Amino acid sequence: MSVAPLPESFSSLIRGLALRAEDSEFLLATNAYLASVFGLSASDLATVVLRFLADLQRGLPAPGTLRPEDGVTPDHPGFLKMLPSHVTRLPDGSERGHCLALDLGGTNFRVVGTHLLGEGRAETVSERYTIPGYAKDGNAQDLFGFIAASIAGFLKLHPEYLPEPGQGPAPLAFTFSFPTQQDGLSSARLTNWTKGFSTQGVIGEDVGALLNTALEALDVPYRVTAIINDTVGTLISFAYSVGPDQGNLVSGVILGTGANAAYMERVELVGKLHDKVDLPTTAVTRADSMVLNIEWGTFGSMPLAPEEANRRAGLAERLLSFRQPATEPDADVPDEPPSTPMALPFTPYDDLLDMGSVHPGRQRFEKCIAGLYLGELALLTLRHLAARGVPGTSHPRVLFGQLTRDLPTSDDVQAFLDAAGRWSGETLARCEELFLRLAMALRGDDKVSRKTLEPAARDLLTELAALLGVRLPSSPENPLDDYLVELLVLGMTASYVSARAARLAAAGIAAIGLQTGLLGSEPLARVVSLARSETSRLLAPLTVAELGALKVAGQPLDPEMLLGTSPTETEIAAGPGGQGQPPEEVAFGLCDAGPPGDAAVEVPAAERLLFGIDGSVFEFYPHFPGRMHRALTDLFGPRVGGRFSLQHAKDGSSVGAALAAN
Ligand code: BGC
Repeated sequence: MSVAPLPESFSSLIRGLALRAEDSEFLLATNAYLASVFGLSASDLATVVLRFLADLQRGLPAPGTLRPEDGVTPDHPGFLKMLPSHVTRLPDGSERGHCLALDLGGTNFRVVGTHLLGEGRAETVSERYTIPGYAKDGNAQDLFGFIAASIAGFLKLHPEYLPEPGQGPAPLAFTFSFPTQQDGLSSARLTNWTKGFSTQGVIGEDVGALLNTALEALDVPYRVTAIINDTVGTLISFAYSVGPDQGNLVSGVILGTGANAAYMERVELVGKLHDKVDLPTTAVTRADSMVLNIEWGTFGSMPLAPEEANRRAGLAERLLSFRQPATEPDADVPDEPPSTPMALPFTPYDDLLDMGSVHPGRQRFEKCIAGLYLGELALLTLRHLAARGVPGTSHPRVLFGQLTRDLPTSDDVQAFLDAAGRWSGETLARCEELFLRLAMALRGDDKVSRKTLEPAARDLLTELAALLGVRLPSSPENPLDDYLVELLVLGMTASYVSARAARLAAAGIAAIGLQTGLLGSEPLARVVSLARSETSRLLAPLTVAELGALKVAGQPLDPEMLLGTSPTETEIAAGPGGQGQPPEEVAFGLCDAGPPGDAAVEVPAAERLLFGIDGSVFEFYPHFPGRMHRALTDLFGPRVGGRFSLQHAKDGSSVGAALAAN
């Protein structure tokens, strides 16, 4: 039997399923709520892109020349650090050699033996080590001692990587995926920890020197010669594997446990490099370009006045019913916009996640898009739906039926958040995967048998119920019948959270694309007019002065061109997808993202902007790349959107580090 492809929006999907009327209504109400909370219209997205571009340009001058009245300054949590990597040229694929590389900053620590074979090819042998808790929150010796011991373990398993006797220590390439200030390739001072790390005694220190001391102490015959960020490594290894002829090599991006991007910038625009004439590597100041590590995770972070912070925290806690019995009027998210418009569309779930995180108030962009956080965001949303029903409706149905009466109402928000943090992004991807297969089965697609979905459904329901504090009677016998609605809500929530992440990541990529100058100024004018076409409820629009300060390739823009145009109604409405659905929903490409934006357009290599992207979120989340392409098409239209080529750069950071040390 042939079955039509899944529709693009959940509302069409739900309407097309043979569900009980009550369930169908409940799912439609839930969908409308999720779209209103996590939806990002093309206009919202355009506002994010412009703010990102403005912040990116503010990160280029020497810090001393920044004035508070011009916007964020380096001590602001939202400041984009734009860190010089001291990598001034990219490989062309011909490089050869051997190297040992380390990768610290993802979920595991890895030691990677790399053999560069030329012709863009590399062979690697790697070992993974689980990073113990004490290394993440202990002291520098704990962390670097663990790293040195792991390398010693690797060398036992792979003695061919031991240097020849009498040769002295061999060079070691270190991918250290945290923000660092570098004066050269071989030393890097940590500016601050991110993700789940808070090891004492490392901030402000040279991580190369700390590692060398630990290596010496354990007699490990290696010394650090190159330290790079994973995004920089990804760009380098991507350049190595694709070679120079496929298009313009623009950027390396990580969408994994953390999220960030690095790109090639012209040194003449990087004011903070100009006063560094005394750098040991004077080649840097003579070079045309340098890879900059944006540290984009900080984007949108902002200090809040204490009253506003309290208000947001209170709202967030009420949403989870920790502070108020479920019978009191609902704290309805859409009806309570923030009193301070933000650079990012933070929901109360984002605020709550932030409050419970290792670095509150920081890395707010990263907390919307990285794998470390996506599972928790979805779980907080589900907890709200389970505790209070669908906001804005008085629908009698609740998730897990009467069982939600038992939800804990303890004051211990932090304990719940800690538990929620264990719901990994990988689980979320499983939810969405199951959802898509379930939808296919419900639509009568005989390629998917309901029976085969049962074990995954049972596992996810049991995990979810345990985390929400709902006592399921036992492991459900017939999960697809008894908890169909729960499974669909689970999948929808996962989709909305990850689709928003994909769109926000694409906004960062769009800003980098604009900054290269390769697109010219028209696409920027289009984004400005999209941003001005609608006043967003949540986001702070750019002021005319801020818009006027934007540059393309270092050149100011003609204000007439920027501000004189207004998009036509049809331009704004023209998004992919069908008629009659809420715009947020259409733009999301929720169920089936369809072909990427550039599939229909043949783009000559000279016009292509190549982005090498690595990380579990990009690689494993269903539809993530497709949704990013969709966002780029929403922003720029299919012709310019199609110039962005988002490619998976496999194992970028370790091969990139080896190339940097080569
Ligand atoms: C770090 C970046 C890193 C990214 C991806 C972020 O938390 O600050 O330096 O590139 O994670 O690993």
